[in-house]
Amino acid sequence: ILLVHTRFELSAYRAQDLPPCTVPEIVFSGRSNVGKSSMLNKLANQKNLARVSSVPGKTVSVNFYRCDRPGDFRLVDLPGYGYAKAARAEKIKWSSLVESYLVGRPAVLAVQLVDSRRSLTADDADMLRYFREQSIPFVVTMTKMDKLNVTEQAARLAAFPPETGVEDARIIPFSARTGLGVDALTAAIAAALPG
Ligand code: GTP
Ligand code: MG
Repeated sequence: ILLVHTRFELSAYRAQDLPPCTVPEIVFSGRSNVGKSSMLNKLANQKNLARVSSVPGKTVSVNFYRCDRPGDFRLVDLPGYGYAKAARAEKIKWSSLVESYLVGRPAVLAVQLVDSRRSLTADDADMLRYFREQSIPFVVTMTKMDKLNVTEQAARLAAFPPETGVEDARIIPFSARTGLGVDALTAAIAAALPG
């Protein structure tokens, strides 16, 4: 397992706490509660690497995880966006922190998470547009696939790609529960790393 040696490095709550970008970074982006922390735990095969919560909007920091074998790189967990109940002040804080992270810091790969039961949101589309504009390679993962029955899965897999608006978007169905997509996503991460 590529990411088995991943450990927590630090959480940045303010722009000035962001560490300099000294190693390649894989960034994980998606709305609040979409399953980012669960995905990280599954990829690293660790139960409590990232904190999972059923209460949306918990993660307000940019969380850095470090993996130094093989190579040396980071997994970066962005705070989830789109949490409707968040106060306006919180939303502004979110966007300035995330912007501070994203600007001038090209990740070697962005993993955009989208709930397999929902359509792409405007925020999701904004993130994809940003990655394309910045020429950051990205994959789109459809999370929580285990919550759909076989018929629903087929329907979402057919309907989803056009919604991304990206003709050749790489889409990976994923479930942190069953492990669906772990191998495909791990391979995409491995391929994105230099060397
Ligand atoms: P924030 O940190 O608030 O942005 O959320 P997050 O994107 O990190 O989501 P998190 O991993 O904390 O998961 C949110 C909820 O969804 C938790 O209750 C998880 O148990 C559940 N969940 C995550 N992934 C899956 C999955 O693949 N299948 C199922 N059934 N539930 C999942
Ligand atoms: Mg989280």
